[in-house]
Amino acid sequence: MSATSILIMNGPNLSRLGKREPEVYGSLTIDEINRGIAVAFPEVNFEFFQSGYEGALLEKLFEIEDRGGCSGIVLNAGAFTHYSIALRDAISSIRTPVVEVHLSNVHKREEFRHKSVISAVCIGVIAGFGVQSYHLGVRALLGRGDS
Ligand code: DQA
Repeated sequence: MSATSILIMNGPNLSRLGKREPEVYGSLTIDEINRGIAVAFPEVNFEFFQSGYEGALLEKLFEIEDRGGCSGIVLNAGAFTHYSIALRDAISSIRTPVVEVHLSNVHKREEFRHKSVISAVCIGVIAGFGVQSYHLGVRALLGRGDS
């Protein structure tokens, strides 16, 4: 494959970052977060996608896969993390590696956030580092095969 290409995908309510519970999720908007990622990794071709609709997230995964895949996907599935078997099945059905990320440390929060139905079909999980969770997700994909 030529250039490294990575999809940054965000699920429901993440369009509200900056306004939504800033004490939990920080004060940056999703556009600011995405710009920061692009600046931090100038060698990577990024695509950014956000939707509050489960089906739209699934269709995006299949679109990428049918295009021949990409180097990987950094996915913050928001609340779908905790209950979307459809999302889990979609991730499981594609070859493109997916890293699960969360801004907050979901394990320090309510019990219902402790369970992820997608972790088992992702290559790894990063949670609790705020915006850095996305950066660490990108690093994890770039570093694959190094060890
Ligand atoms: C989140 C954690 C989820 O529990 C929550 O539903 C979100 C955001 C995070 O980034 O910390 O929407 O994925």
